[in-house]
Amino acid sequence: MTTGLSPIELAKFIAAKQASEYIESGMKVGLGSGSTSAWFVQCLGEMVRENGLKIKAVPTSEHTAELAEVVGIEVITLDAAKWLDITVDGTDEYDANLNLIKGGGGAHLREKIVATASDRMVVIADATKKVDTLGAFPLPVEVIPFGVGITRNLIEEALIGMDVMGRDVSLRMDGDTPFITDEGNMVLDLHLKHIGNPRQLGFVLNQIPGVVENGLFIDICDVVIVGRGDGKVTVRDITNNTAEVVQYDVQQEDNIFLEVAE
Ligand code: 5RP
Repeated sequence: MTTGLSPIELAKFIAAKQASEYIESGMKVGLGSGSTSAWFVQCLGEMVRENGLKIKAVPTSEHTAELAEVVGIEVITLDAAKWLDITVDGTDEYDANLNLIKGGGGAHLREKIVATASDRMVVIADATKKVDTLGAFPLPVEVIPFGVGITRNLIEEALIGMDVMGRDVSLRMDGDTPFITDEGNMVLDLHLKHIGNPRQLGFVLNQIPGVVENGLFIDICDVVIVGRGDGKVTVRDITNNTAEVVQYDVQQEDNIFLEVAE
C-alpha cells in the first residue's frame, strides 16, 4: 500500500502517477532523471507490461536508461526518435513562471536537450521544490574538464555583474574525485541564494568558454504536477493557464511499484 511510503516518497509517487495520464500508445516519451522520475518510469513500465501501452522512450541518463529497460520500456536514441511528444522529468526548484533549476543529479545537459526536443515538458515534484525566487538550490553548470579552473574563474568574474546574492562556486565531488557526468564532463555548483534575472544569468553563463550547459530551464516547462503527502496533487498548466487539484485515496491506492523501488 502507498501508506508504506514516507510522505515525501508518497508525494513523488502520486505526482508521477498523475503524469502517466498524459501518456498514450504511440507516443515518443522523454524520461527524466532522479528519484521522482524513477517513480514515473516505474509507472510507465507497469502500463507497458500490464496494459499493453506501446511507447518508445528516450532516457536522459544512463541510470534512467537502465531502469527503463528493467521495467520493460523500449529505449531509443534521441536521434532515432527525431522529436518527442512529451518529456516528464523532476526538478530541484520551480517558480511561479514554471522556470526551473535542474541538475541536482548532474543530468541537466541531456535533460535540457531532451525537454527542448519535446512538444511538451511536464515536471513532477513534491511541494518542497516550489520557490518564490530561484537560487536557494545551488545552480549546476556542466563544464568540460580541460581548464576547469579557468572556467571557474571566468564564472566567478561573470557573477560579479549579475543580480545574485551569493557568488561561491564549488566543484561537485563524488567522494575524493570530481563528479563526472554521463557526457564525461564536470559540474560546478553556483551558490547564488537568489537569482534576480534567471534568463540573463543563463545566457551569460553559456557564453563562457568551457561551459557546456547550465541548469536553468527558462520557458521550457509547460506543466508542473506537485504531489503532497496527504494524497493531494496539483496540476498547473501554464500554456492553458489552468490549475486542477486531484485527491488520491492513499489508503486504497495499491503501491504496485514498491518492490521495484527497493
Ligand atoms: C537530475 C535532475 C532531477 O530531476 C532533480 O535533481 C530532481 O531529483 P529528485 O526527483 O530526486 O528530487 O535535475 O539532474
